[in-house]
Order: sequence, then C-alpha cells, then structure tokens
Amino acid sequence: MSIQNVRLEVMQFLEKNIDSFVENYLIPVEKIWQPSDLLPNSEKDTFLDEVTELREIAKELPYDFWVVLVGDTITEEALPTYESWLMDVEGVDQKTANGDNGWAKWLRQWTGEENRHGDLLNKYLYLSGRVNMREVEITTQHLINDGFDPGTDRDPYKNFVFTSFQELATYVSHNRVAQLAKKFGDNKLSKICKIIAGDEMRHHLAYSEFVDRIFKVDPSQMMLAFEYMMKKKITMPAHLIRESGESIGSAFEKFSESAQRIGVYTAMDYVDILEKLNAKWEIDKIGNLTDEAEKARDYLLKLPARMTRIAERMVVPSEEKLFKWVQPALIK
Ligand SMILES: [Fe+2]
Ligand SMILES: [Fe+2]
Repeated sequence: MSIQNVRLEVMQFLEKNIDSFVENYLIPVEKIWQPSDLLPNSEKDTFLDEVTELREIAKELPYDFWVVLVGDTITEEALPTYESWLMDVEGVDQKTANGDNGWAKWLRQWTGEENRHGDLLNKYLYLSGRVNMREVEITTQHLINDGFDPGTDRDPYKNFVFTSFQELATYVSHNRVAQLAKKFGDNKLSKICKIIAGDEMRHHLAYSEFVDRIFKVDPSQMMLAFEYMMKKKITMPAHLIRESGESIGSAFEKFSESAQRIGVYTAMDYVDILEKLNAKWEIDKIGNLTDEAEKARDYLLKLPARMTRIAERMVVPSEEKLFKWVQPALIK
C-alpha cells in the first residue's frame, strides 16, 4: 500500500472518534464565551464611560506592545487562510454523499472557536484609540490575499505537527501578552488575552492528541513527518505579513523582533515548544521504528540542545522599529 493510502486509512480510523474529540476539546456554542462578554456593552448607557476608561488605561501600554498586539490580531484575522488550507488536507472531506465527513466537521467547529479571537482583539484595538485601524485592515487584507505555505502539503501527519506546534505557540504568546497587560495595569485586556490563550491550549491538546494516536498506529511515518517539519522549521502563520505599499513578507522580521524584545515569543520559546512536543509524544520511548525513523528520532531528541546553542547566540536589535499600524506620537 502506498504511504498516501496508509495515511488515508489512518485518518478514517481516527475519524471514528471525532465526536469524542469534539466533546473533549471543543466547547458547545451556547456555553463558550463570546467577544461581547469581554467588551463594553454598546446597548448600555454606561458604554461611553467604559470606553473612556478603556482608552485611558490603554495609554499606559508601550510601543512594542501595540505592535505585537496588532500582529497577533492580524494573524488571528487571517483565519480564512488556515481554514481553507486545512480543509484541503488528505482525509478531510466536505463533499461526501452525506456532506461533511468527521474531519470537516471538526475543522468547522475549530474555525468557529478561532474566529472569536480575531473578532475580540480587533474590537479591542478599535476601541483603544492607540492604533491606525485602516493600516491594520490593509495588512489583514494583504495577508489573506498573500496566503501562506506551512510546507505541509496535503499530508495530515505534517499538518497535525504544524497545528500542534502553532496552537502551543499562540498559547504562549497570548499568555505573555496577558501577563504584560497586567503588569501595565490593564486588567481587562489581560483577561481578554488570557481567555484566548485558554482556547489555544485546548486546541493544542486536541491536535497533539491526534498526532499521539497516529504514533500508535503508524510510528515510523509519523516520526519522519515530525522530523521533516522540524528540519524545515515551523513557519509562523504571519510570515508573509506586510504593511501598506510594501512588498510581501517585509514586515515579518521586525514584527518578530518586537515580540522577542518584549519577551512575548522568543527563539527559546520555539525550543521549549519542541521539547514539550518531544515529551508529550514520548519520542524517546517509541518502538517499532524503521532504521530511517530511528535516525529521525535521534535527530529530534538532539535538536533542542542544538537549537538552544543557536538561540543563545541570537541578538535582537534593541531599537524599536516603527510600523504604520501604530503612531509613535500617540504612544508614551
Ligand atoms: Fe487563535
Ligand atoms: Fe489557534
């Protein structure tokens, strides 16, 4: 049987449990939080006072913080790109005789949860008065137009490594932004970012569970897929981000520098996530591997130490770089 056919069979096998995945890792629509729960209520007379307060508190947050919050928001807002990418993965099928298969149902519900993140952050940014929303919106539209390529092709194994990694990375970054907001006295924004981080953690647990189950039935191919993804490095969903009038991808590096400078997402976090995935999937204990997969395992186990040495040598420029999204004159 071809490698591709085995993958399809594994996906069909896992699909039998899709209802339990949805039940264990996603929250029913009527029970989950909505953006409005965390924002001033515009139906109330107190709305304008609440917005005034929100804007006053927002004045305490520094430049890099806004850059990172905008970049994170835009990354969330490019959700159509991720949904359409994942809908195309082998084993996901929205056009069966009975409509969606189990995986397509999972993806729709995952998308429904994710969609609240960009919605909430966007509304917060708009109310804050600290950012140029038109520039933010242009970047978002560019990013959706430009798409992304995580290098996973249509392979479910590689895609689930990517999503396991990325959901944990977004958990880390939203959580750090929450901590920073708190430090600067913005408890409401802190709560916003914390609640989003909570979703990301559930999603990470789900995708890493899928990979875990694949390791049980197709260990060598799963190991090779994991190695493949780590060898080419996990791309950030916003790696093609640009500002208005600029070329594709030109804003990514300076956005990433802002995130490293304020400690929201650093090269060491990348290494930590890899270590967590190695531990979660018990890479050191997996048996029944081909020689090639044994080598892949050795590579993966040694990689965190190697990457730590590289990360330690990395120097992040200390000077803030300006973005059209955030007017420096408005930020203290
Ligand atoms: Fe998200
Ligand atoms: Fe996510």
